[in-house]
Amino acid sequence: MARVLIIGAGGVGQVVAHKCSQVPEVFSDICLASRTLEKCEKIARQIPRPIETARVDADNVPELVSLIQQFKPALIINVALPYQDLTIMDACLETGVDYLDTANYEPQDEARFCYKWQWDYHERFKDRGIMALLGSGFDPGVTNVFCAWAKKKHFDEIHEIDIIDCNAGDHGHPFATNFNPEINIREVSARGKYYEDGEWKETTPLSVSKIFDFPEGIGERKIYLMYHEELESLVKHIPGVKRARFWMTFSDNYLKHLEVLENVGMTRIDPVIYNGQEIIPLQFLKTLLPDPASLGPVTRGRTCIGCLINGIKDGKKKIYYIYNICDHQKCYEEVKSQAVSYTTGVPAMIGAMLMLTGRWRGKGVFNMEEFDPGPFMEKLNLHGLPWTEIDR
Ligand SMILES: NC(=O)c1ccc[n+]([C@@H]2O[C@H](COP(=O)([O-])OP(=O)(O)OC[C@H]3O[C@@H](n4cnc5c(N)ncnc54)[C@H](OP(=O)(O)O)[C@@H]3O)[C@@H](O)[C@H]2O)c1
Repeated sequence: MARVLIIGAGGVGQVVAHKCSQVPEVFSDICLASRTLEKCEKIARQIPRPIETARVDADNVPELVSLIQQFKPALIINVALPYQDLTIMDACLETGVDYLDTANYEPQDEARFCYKWQWDYHERFKDRGIMALLGSGFDPGVTNVFCAWAKKKHFDEIHEIDIIDCNAGDHGHPFATNFNPEINIREVSARGKYYEDGEWKETTPLSVSKIFDFPEGIGERKIYLMYHEELESLVKHIPGVKRARFWMTFSDNYLKHLEVLENVGMTRIDPVIYNGQEIIPLQFLKTLLPDPASLGPVTRGRTCIGCLINGIKDGKKKIYYIYNICDHQKCYEEVKSQAVSYTTGVPAMIGAMLMLTGRWRGKGVFNMEEFDPGPFMEKLNLHGLPWTEIDR
């Protein structure tokens, strides 16, 4: 029985609040806090058991500390934006509370995400006797656990990892992003990067693509090479990996809009003066695009995210594929959100559950693949994200 503070009342925060409320034997008391109180209250009204709500500016450490001292959580689930990771970790250090997130820190004025900033907290978390679990979403998150599972159960040596993320859903809008538009567009328009033979290699954004045949009727789709944060931790924690890449599907329509927006400067993150006032074009664009939380009722189709891994087992070469398929409409029926928020929010709840029940414990800052994947894999099947594995 534990008290949990969820920070961030967007698409993912909504799913985390629903899923935690479904497990009262672990999450006895829940507080959902965010910048806009009304969004927390709207989510609280959807949930059958009472949860608390609060307004907090998570960029402000004293405000966070005062909320933590008032609510007294055992754990904070950070599903605000990557910009808030360090301030929330600072507040955890000050109050001695455990921490979990789904995306690594990124400075607001520079589109550059990496684990270094958060890994640098390891000694301080260890000395304080508290734990941080980083990247407990789907990718990063479940994809890291899939790799740890493959290493534990299926391989003596892992040589190549390809993480492949397909959203085969359609929301009917000419252009919309499935999670926070600012974070999504920063990620997609960044240079591609992958790991090969001991070094990182860069590619022009979205310049490398190929066709992948997805299972269970989803069929062939074009996948594009991108950089994604779990590559950094997997290369560190899975010894012997020779190549690690991340791929994502995009519709031609999405890419066409993105190209035009980039060409006219709407994806810029540096300030420009408009009518005597400073604005950031990408933040302005975000205010015009559909709120990802509003896509739930209109999104149809499925997501398929998985890992294609090759290496050696019992002296023989082996190719192994493990994936989850998630249906947008089924997610909406259960928690009033589409599958991209669902596939992030469920693993956040499972990571929190494993920490609070002592099955994943440690002092310091950890990535998902550092723990035994068994309990997490078991919970995925029980809480809405069943997985399938294929020896190819
Ligand atoms: N690992 C994965 O698989 C994965 C996949 C998708 C997303 N993610 C991550 O999940 C997180 C949430 O994504 P989302 O789609 O739910 O985004 P979202 O819909 O934009 O929600 C973000 C929420 O954070 C709140 N917030 C922003 N700044 C804040 C601040 N300073 N103080 C307090 N609250 C603040 C926002 O408040 P307002 O409503 O007032 O703006 C909003 O409620 C992001 O970090 C994203 O990168 C991870």
